[in-house]
Amino acid sequence: MVTGAAGFIGSHLTAALLREGSSVVGIDRRDPVTVPPTITDAADGSSPRYHHVRTDLLTCALEPVMQDAEVVFHLAGIPGVRPSWGQQFGEYVHTNILATQRVMEAAARAAVRRVVVASSSSVYGPAGDRPSAESALPRPLSPYAVTKLAEEHLCFVHAARVDCPTSVVALRYFTVYGPGQRSDMFIHRALRAAVTGQPMRLYGEGRQRRDFTYVDDVVTATIAAATARDDSGIVNVGGGSNASLRDVIDIAQSLTGRQIRMERLAVCPGDVPTTLADPRRAQRLLGWRPSVDLRSGMFRQLRSLTVPEPQVTVGSPDSRHLA
Ligand code: NAD
Ligand code: UGA
Repeated sequence: MVTGAAGFIGSHLTAALLREGSSVVGIDRRDPVTVPPTITDAADGSSPRYHHVRTDLLTCALEPVMQDAEVVFHLAGIPGVRPSWGQQFGEYVHTNILATQRVMEAAARAAVRRVVVASSSSVYGPAGDRPSAESALPRPLSPYAVTKLAEEHLCFVHAARVDCPTSVVALRYFTVYGPGQRSDMFIHRALRAAVTGQPMRLYGEGRQRRDFTYVDDVVTATIAAATARDDSGIVNVGGGSNASLRDVIDIAQSLTGRQIRMERLAVCPGDVPTTLADPRRAQRLLGWRPSVDLRSGMFRQLRSLTVPEPQVTVGSPDSRHLA
C-alpha cells in the first residue's frame, strides 16, 4: 500500500512498484489523474495490479483496505516548510500526526509487516558544516519540521509495543526533485522561470544549500527500506548534491540558454541555511547510494516540464511540452 499515491513522490513510487511486479493499493484524497500523465501511466488505474482508493486518511476505515498489505509506504502528508506557520498549521497536524496515528493503528491490527514512513531532512534544523547523522539531536526550525519529527516518533512508539507486529523504517528525505516536482518547490520554479521568462522569487541571497535528491533515487531507497533489517530505525536519503540555490539557477540557465529574472525577498522563517546528509547509514543498511547528479536530474525534470499555455507567448517555442 502506498499512501499519498497521487502525490509527487508517491506516484513515482507506485509506478516503480508496479514495474517490479508488485500489486499496489494507493490511497490519496486526490485521484492520480490530477498529476501529469507522463509519471502516472502505471498508476492511473489502467493496470489490474493497481487499485486506487480516493479517500481521506483522517476519516476512512483503513483496516479493511490494509488487510492484504505486506508493506505500507506512508507518504501522504502536508509538505512544505514555508506555509506551515499560521492558520494552515492545523492541516499539518491533522495529516502528519493524526492520520499517521490512524495508519499505525490500522497497520498493527492488519498485521502489516513493515511501515516505511516518509520523514524529512527538516527535522535536523540548521546543519552547520558537517553532514547530519541520524544520531544528531533534532532541532526543528519550522512547525512543519515539528510535525515530521512527531510523525517519526509516533510510528516508533507504536512499533515498540510488545503486541505490535509491525516494524518501522523512517526515511529522512532531503529536498526531492525530478519530473512532477511540486510547483511550490525551488527547482520547479527555477526551470519554469527560465522557460517562460516569468520572474521568480528568491528568498534571501540564494546561498542556502540543499542536498537535492533525485526522485528515482528516493524511490530506490524507499523500496529497499521495505526489506531492510527490523531495527534499521531512521535512515537519511540524501542525494549528495550539496548545491546552493545559485548553483541551481546557473544550471537552469545553462540547460535552457535563458536568463532567470528574480524578485528578491527576505528569507522565510524556518528556512534552514543548509541541509547535508551523512550517507553512511543508508549505504550500510539499505545498500543505497544516490546515482543521479544534479545537472542530469534537472535536465530530466526540464524535459518533462509542461508549461501552461497562458504563461507563454503564443507561438514561442515554449508553448509546448519540452519532452
Ligand atoms: P505531495 O503533496 O506531492 O504528496 C502528498 C500526497 O498526500 C498528496 O497527493 C495529498 O493529496 C496526499 N494527502 C495529504 N493529506 C492526505 C490525507 N489526509 N488523506 C489522504 N491523502 C492525503 O508531497 P511530496 O513532495 O510527494 O511528499 C511526500 C511525502 O514526503 C510527505 O510526507 C513529505 O512530508 C515527505 N517529504 C517530501 C520531501 C520533498 O522534497 N518533496 C522531502 C522530505 C520529506
Ligand atoms: C523541501 C520540501 O518542500 C519539504 O516538504 C521537505 O520536507 C524538505 O525539502 C526536506 O528536505 O525535508 P525545502 O528544502 O525548503 O523543502 O525545498 P524548496 O521548497 O524547494 O526550497 C528550497 C530553497 O529555495 C529554500 O531555501 C527556499 O526558501 C528557496 N525558495 C523556494 C526560493 O527562494 N524561492 C521559491 O520560490 C521557492
